[in-house]
Amino acid sequence: MIAFIFNSLVLSGSLAVVAAHAGHDHLHHSNDAIGQIPLSGPNEMPVIFNRPILEKDGYIPSFAGISTFAHLPYLQCWEEDANEDYDIAVIGAPYDIGVTFRTGARFGPSGIREGSKRIKGYNNELHVNPFKSWAKAVDCGDIPFEPFDSEQAMAQIESHAKYILSRPARPTHSKLNNGIPRLITLGGDHTILLPVLRAMREAHGRPISVIHFDSHLDTWAPEIYNVKAKGSKYNHGNPLYHASKEGLTTNGTSLHVGIRSSLYDKDDIARDEALGYRMIKANDIFTLGVDGISERIKEILGSPDDALVYLSIDIDVIDPSMAPATGTPETGGFLTREMRYILRSLYGYNIVGMDVVEVAPAYDTQAQLTTFLAADLIYETMSMMVKYGEQKH
Ligand SMILES: *[C@@H]1O[C@H](CO)[C@@H](O)[C@H](O)[C@H]1NC(C)=O
Repeated sequence: MIAFIFNSLVLSGSLAVVAAHAGHDHLHHSNDAIGQIPLSGPNEMPVIFNRPILEKDGYIPSFAGISTFAHLPYLQCWEEDANEDYDIAVIGAPYDIGVTFRTGARFGPSGIREGSKRIKGYNNELHVNPFKSWAKAVDCGDIPFEPFDSEQAMAQIESHAKYILSRPARPTHSKLNNGIPRLITLGGDHTILLPVLRAMREAHGRPISVIHFDSHLDTWAPEIYNVKAKGSKYNHGNPLYHASKEGLTTNGTSLHVGIRSSLYDKDDIARDEALGYRMIKANDIFTLGVDGISERIKEILGSPDDALVYLSIDIDVIDPSMAPATGTPETGGFLTREMRYILRSLYGYNIVGMDVVEVAPAYDTQAQLTTFLAADLIYETMSMMVKYGEQKH
């Protein structure tokens, strides 16, 4: 009953608005701006419908609009006839069937896009505006895949990422990285790193240096879970194990940053090292400080002239007090300002791709702390990608 009264009020209210608009059109528009379109009324008598020509306004408030990442144009990148080009492609991979604890990262891409509504403008720390420079960035939407079979879904993520990275460059296109676009993937759980790295490795023709920000190592041996089913071989605790075994990551110049979880066993460390990864722990911030951590990362990466760098950011690298919306939170993490500072210090490197994973918006605060953070980390990385290009052009 209440709903009925409410609906009636809304309905009569909107009719009143329509009537008021029709009445005031002549006040705002000159006659020649009114298209006169004859239509048939219900009684088949012709009526005249006055349609004003809209005044186009360039200002769209940040809270308005359909959510793409940072209001970037939406491009259906998977369409065969999509012949628009781009330098940076944002894709969503809403895959969360590889988690070991809380589910919900399938809503990560939509949550991060919502959290990115205020992202725009000049980066006053890196001195670049990633949206007003050489790079054309687009949001390709989410990769279509079947969320029931992990290997099938991973194969679909891999083929879509490969498709994006294999787009032929237009003549005016940046020659950086042979014209291969930079890929920003919105996860999804961390399993998605493996298919994305397979695509990266193929597109660039050599192993990639991965900087893996995470509280967990993600190099579990598949047998740790003692699982029998074929589909259990890949999960969010082992993408970097498989990546190393498949030759996708560089040996000795890839690393983890922010590690602090308990381990399955102390053997985990030896296995991780043998796979080619180096480690900076969350607690190292007490002895090294943020500048010391940056220096250590650069020492491990080596010369910026050689490295193709991929950033994989598990949102649980940040302390759960600042990033609660994640599947396997670990206390004792970096603060958001520390993370952004460390991240920005990598600006001289050729960052060919990045992801933010394990954002599960259902566990967020109503103030959207985690999705705002995820969007900011992408903004910092996009700024570095564009700044690198500015320096090389
Ligand atoms: C990395 O290099 C070290 C030292 O040469 C070697 O022992 C190790 O097996 C290599 N690991 C991989 C995964 O290639």
